[in-house]
Amino acid sequence: MADTRDLDHALDHDADLELPPWWRQGVVYQIYPRSFADANADGLGDIAGIVAKADYLESLGIDAVWLSPFYPSALADGGYDVADYRDVDPRLGTLADFDDLVDALHSRGIRVVVDIVPNHTSDQHAWFREALAAGRDSAARERYIFREGTGPDGALPPTDWVSMFGGSAWERVDDGQWYLHNFAIEQPDLNWEYPEVRADFVTTLRFWSDRGVDGFRIDVAHMLTKDLSEPLPSQAQLDALPRDGMHPMVDRDDVHEVYAEWRRVFDSYDPPRTAVAEAWVDKARVPLYASRESLGQAFNFDLLQADFDAGQFRRVVQDNLELADASGSSSTWVLSNHDVVRHATRYGLPHPGRDERGAPLRKHGTEWVRSGGVDPVLDRDAGGRRARAASLFMLALPGSSYIYQGEELGLHEVAEIPASERQDPTFFRSEGADFGRDGCRVPLPWRSDGPSFGFGDDGSHLPQPEWFADYAVSREDGDPASTLTLYREALRLRRSLQTSERLEWIESGRDDVLRFRRPNGWEAVTNFGAEPYPLDRGHPVIASSPLDGGLLPGDTTVWLR
Ligand code: NOJ
Repeated sequence: MADTRDLDHALDHDADLELPPWWRQGVVYQIYPRSFADANADGLGDIAGIVAKADYLESLGIDAVWLSPFYPSALADGGYDVADYRDVDPRLGTLADFDDLVDALHSRGIRVVVDIVPNHTSDQHAWFREALAAGRDSAARERYIFREGTGPDGALPPTDWVSMFGGSAWERVDDGQWYLHNFAIEQPDLNWEYPEVRADFVTTLRFWSDRGVDGFRIDVAHMLTKDLSEPLPSQAQLDALPRDGMHPMVDRDDVHEVYAEWRRVFDSYDPPRTAVAEAWVDKARVPLYASRESLGQAFNFDLLQADFDAGQFRRVVQDNLELADASGSSSTWVLSNHDVVRHATRYGLPHPGRDERGAPLRKHGTEWVRSGGVDPVLDRDAGGRRARAASLFMLALPGSSYIYQGEELGLHEVAEIPASERQDPTFFRSEGADFGRDGCRVPLPWRSDGPSFGFGDDGSHLPQPEWFADYAVSREDGDPASTLTLYREALRLRRSLQTSERLEWIESGRDDVLRFRRPNGWEAVTNFGAEPYPLDRGHPVIASSPLDGGLLPGDTTVWLR
């Protein structure tokens, strides 16, 4: 183990033997820094907190850490409102702390991926302040998308466009002009027609690459470039237009000119820096983002949108392996992240993926949004069991898996956050109709006792419920039956699974049981139903719940050799 976990050795090794690059089948652990670990006792997680948990990260057996934004931010959108792309939020540390983190992770064989947010800045960014001060027709306003209003005195927004977080996508400034914000008011969209915007992001990519960052996760990768020629269409017209690469707002072909330039930056490093696109686009267009000429890999969110259902899971896997083939990239798999209800909770609702009224968890635009008050009808145990089965299913697939902090503990969504303590703009902009994403961003429980469950010494910026004690790292560490042990063991075994990127389905004889084989003879079998499934052959090496003799119980995955 030790030698393959050593980064330098692994890099030489890759080069010598021409092994596929790490990211094709890597396990990437997503850290939401403000909720991971708080070393300086201010209630907010920080970089030093992550460094202090480097041994924990190593013990998981992951290949890389992806850090959600840790940059200076007024936190209007959990850090996705970036005020300075080339610095660390002083509440989270310094650039020197960041360098320590890269060292701590690299010395443990763990790569570092950072989040780049190019569609919009924070309204606190120096550029936006300058744009406000400089006034209309200034070069400073060219970096953003300013327009005159309509109606008497221009008092109405330029169009009826709706922001992703609800409400108008335009906001008026003091001198009467309006600016476009596809997300929160505090997130003005950048103008990617403006050369300085393009040049500045190249500088940012180089800045972090020079500091040793191995890769980038690109936020809202499908929305940077826009065709805003007059007359601007209405929202209804926008909605009706085909998404064929020429849509004025989303998934335009010309965004790949930006990524072609970035590709040259990535490839100018040794080893080349990697990138993964967060692109909510039609399936057929995903390969454009995942291709070698563009970002190289793209998220697929199909698993996290599927119910815990054999038919849906099989279709998702099949479709995405085909898409990966078409792009030459590998597929990505995601069950949870900082934007969706944790999968243990989704699967514990009366109808998987549905809220307490039986309605599907609502989607806002293209993103999942919380359903509040799920707890009264949540079956925590069933949800947890299914989540473990789904995770073990995912980790047996070819391609790379992205896991979200806390899912290795089987953590549930926190529904019981009072309105006064909520932070997510989607909650406020929908006037509470959407509960927002705070429930999956509550700071992690490291210990089952003590203030903030070991997160830090001065509370937690989102309230942690009492039941977090049951999911604490201290409780699960070393417990052979815990979810934490399951993840560690699966990640260790996975290293011998990922010898090639192929998968072969095996007829299971049942609609609610999926069975597939990897080229070196491993099989994964998942029983999505309730009826136990007889295991006729193979030696079980790991199971998501205890096997019942030769039977695979419902809601359980087993790997067989
Ligand atoms: C996607 C991010 O994952 C989400 O958290 C954020 O709110 C939006 N992009 C806007 O940046």
